[in-house]
Amino acid sequence: MLILKRHFKTNIRGHLTVGGADTVELANKFGTPLYVVDEQRVRENYRRFYKAFASRWPSVLVCYALKANSNLAVVKILQGEGAGADVSSEYELRIALEAGIPGNKMVFNGNHKTPRELELAVANDVLVNVDSFQELEAVGKVASRLGKRARIGFRVNPDVRAPTHPYIATGLRESKFGFDVASGQAFDAYKLAARMEDVDVVGIHAHIGSQILDAAPFEEEAEKLMALVAEIKERLDIYLSFVDFGGGIGIPYKPDDRELQPEQVAERMVGVVERVVDEKGLGKPTLVFEPGRYIVGDAGVLLARVGYIKERPGIPTWVAVDAGMNALIRPALYGAYHHIELANKILEKEEVLVNVAGPLCESGDFLGKERKLPKVVQGDLVVIFDVGAYGLAMSSQHTAQPRPAMVLVNEGKAEIIRKRETFEDLTRLDQIPGWLK
Ligand code: LLP
Repeated sequence: MLILKRHFKTNIRGHLTVGGADTVELANKFGTPLYVVDEQRVRENYRRFYKAFASRWPSVLVCYALKANSNLAVVKILQGEGAGADVSSEYELRIALEAGIPGNKMVFNGNHKTPRELELAVANDVLVNVDSFQELEAVGKVASRLGKRARIGFRVNPDVRAPTHPYIATGLRESKFGFDVASGQAFDAYKLAARMEDVDVVGIHAHIGSQILDAAPFEEEAEKLMALVAEIKERLDIYLSFVDFGGGIGIPYKPDDRELQPEQVAERMVGVVERVVDEKGLGKPTLVFEPGRYIVGDAGVLLARVGYIKERPGIPTWVAVDAGMNALIRPALYGAYHHIELANKILEKEEVLVNVAGPLCESGDFLGKERKLPKVVQGDLVVIFDVGAYGLAMSSQHTAQPRPAMVLVNEGKAEIIRKRETFEDLTRLDQIPGWLK
């Protein structure tokens, strides 16, 4: 049964429209496979998320997680909305700067930051969420070399179990990220940093996982972090003015997935923060959030053209399209479900059972299995939903497939924001050594 999220529409030609643009026309004009991003939906998602927290707490900084989609135009939209940035590499940091996000509205995360990355972060006043004792030492060195004070927080591991795919659950005790809270390791990190000359210890950070559709783990995270904030104030007299809860609010991918409202999460998390701040007489910290998927996930679709159809007795019909795991790896990698429809037959009755495959030479190269679609013919346009986050961002050139183009739509206008790769792009960096010439 066709169930479209509310920001999608259909037109009288029976086509799906995104941001006022007919997807069939987009595919004809820009080619396939094509990522399409709905600007208004990005803005709506950001505003809703920000308001959920900012209407309940005086100081909130929403740092968009660039890893979800680091396209310059997408980041520019969010910069215009007043977002900060969560960056996890040198180039993400530079993209955020390029889009006009000031360094002091950025947090830098990750378990392996190179000296060069740390330098760029410290030079730009980015808050560095330090992930290990050795990294603390490295930050100290960089700061003293630059003659600047480094703003730091610690990534702590609060051991919160959040129901999600094991690859994207990051808050468990055994995960590679952060300082362990339970054993006192996190506390020790603060004690050590307090004695360092060139660092200002201003924050605390955790990220418990991604694609979480339940508010309870976030509340538990808030409890654990705020207990530590209170302990650090009490025993070390360090006031942490940035409490960073990471990202992780999920989105419904399947038609029957539940939706986690940011307001529900905000209500419960801010409730905890308020209580601890009151009880312990703390100042009111800035609450930092790092949403990626929630902001851009449902704002993006992927359009792919049907090339071949193969009927096989006893199994679903194979429908081969021109986008595969190179363009969207989530189904192959995580077994992730992405809803699929025919964009040019969006209102037609779904009557055939199909598997949708990509063009790569791997059995794992599929976009969806056992899906109901209207009768499919060559040239039909498949639309894959909820690919705005971790779609193009995780794409590759496997089997020398160029990465798809990405187009931004708004009120019927459409413009390319990422060009389709060409043969030259694919071979530009390769070189033939002298002895083979
Ligand atoms: N902050 C930190 C420190 C993170 O590690 C992540 C995501 C985020 C924020 C943003 O999380 P979000 O709000 O988007 O859930 N490739 C996987 C997702 C990996 C997420 C890793 N960290 C996927 O396609 O589902």
